[in-house]
Amino acid sequence: MEKFLLVGSGGREHAIAQALCEGSKARLYVAASSNNPGIHALCLKTGGEMKTLDIHNPAQVAQFAKANSISLAFSSPDATLEAGVSDKLIELGIPTASPTRAASRLEWDKAFARKLMKKHNVPGQIKYGHFKSEKPAHAFIDELGGNVAIKPVGLTGGKGVRISGIHLATIEDSKKYASEVIKSGIGGKGGVVIEEKLDGEEFTLQAFSDGRKLYGMPLVQDHKLAYEGDSGPNTGGMGSYSDANHLLPFAPAHDYFEGMRIMTKIVNSFHKETGGYFRGVLYGQFMKTADGIKVIEFNSRFGDPEAMNVMSIFKGDLFSSLHSLSQGDLKIDGYFEKKATVCKYLVPEGYPIKSLTGQKLSVDLPSVSAHGAKIYFASIEEKEDGNLYTLSSRTIGIVGIADTIGEAQSLAEAACAHVKGPVWHRKDIGTAALIQKRVDHVLSFPPRKKDYSEDHDLI
Ligand code: AMP
Ligand code: GLY
Repeated sequence: MEKFLLVGSGGREHAIAQALCEGSKARLYVAASSNNPGIHALCLKTGGEMKTLDIHNPAQVAQFAKANSISLAFSSPDATLEAGVSDKLIELGIPTASPTRAASRLEWDKAFARKLMKKHNVPGQIKYGHFKSEKPAHAFIDELGGNVAIKPVGLTGGKGVRISGIHLATIEDSKKYASEVIKSGIGGKGGVVIEEKLDGEEFTLQAFSDGRKLYGMPLVQDHKLAYEGDSGPNTGGMGSYSDANHLLPFAPAHDYFEGMRIMTKIVNSFHKETGGYFRGVLYGQFMKTADGIKVIEFNSRFGDPEAMNVMSIFKGDLFSSLHSLSQGDLKIDGYFEKKATVCKYLVPEGYPIKSLTGQKLSVDLPSVSAHGAKIYFASIEEKEDGNLYTLSSRTIGIVGIADTIGEAQSLAEAACAHVKGPVWHRKDIGTAALIQKRVDHVLSFPPRKKDYSEDHDLI
């Protein structure tokens, strides 16, 4: 009997667990940080176990894996990868389909990723500087005319990046924030990365990687800002959509291939630079600009919510696919259905500033399913009274699946109405009006002067 260990217990993990259980006979074991009722039910159903422990402690995760003779392990939470959870599992001889601490540096050290791109001539580069002291950081902000993205070098749970014109009103605000990152050690002591601010439309491309070859998943567009019309503070992502052709309405096939080319190059560059292999899911965050596809960042894991868009339409054996990846010989045993998806994250009142926690929710599961929508539990727990209560982060992901984005959007909205309690969501995600805004934005770009193929050598 195969035994699969999943580390983490958010909406992303529920979607991964569900796909795994639908397409394989493996028993599901989960090292969890909270008592996620959806994941727990899957563990029970497959004869596995969910255990709440410190998922950032490699020894604790490894002990749980060893005690249950795990045959394949997989982790996505970024800080678990930086902490070396994969390394510890690999050390014990457990096949592991998520990257080592060294490989996940592509995510946890933004300066490392940018430097690697530069050294190996990876396409998609932008102007950036890495600073550990204030004076040169301020001078660089002046050099870029105050049009900047300011990023702590290390992990901040997706909430450390601030952009001029959105979160930073004046050039002085930008300098103040750059100083704050350096002085108070936001995201660790690695300093600050300052980038030119790009104008464009963002998209996510996730791919399985065995360190040599990549297998791309459908493109997804996430919505990072909290409120409707793309305003308010940054969040981990309020919802996301994908299209039936696996592209996006503003990103045709050549954008997909450019994304794959960039990701293949970074994986190859990582190997050339370190001798190591990036084995896991690689997440490319791209911006389609007037000057082509640019890299916003790399993550060394599935995105949350983006995993819900792709895992909800994966048909096949995720266990054997991830196992082949862990062995350095990727063979995807399955495919992504040609369906559009729209994911809406229900979040607590007050999120992301000050979430109202411990609030009782009622979820009418049969009605959600009747709409053909999937539900993924995230930051929510089931207490001894058998009721569901909000925790502080995003609560429940609802995914509508249909032939078009419009239909998937309507299904997701209808299903959201069956969750009752003090939670809210962005109603505009996946609507025709918001998507048209994205398309119009891209159409407003002047024609490109050169073709992608002239930019750089092929891989
Ligand atoms: P990151 O954590 O690097 O993905 O950044 C969070 C968000 O900030 C991204 O999803 C973008 O919306 C935005 N962002 C990051 N870098 C830039 C940039 N150079 N120009 C414009 N927006 C950016
Ligand atoms: N949704 C963005 C992320 O997972 O980083």
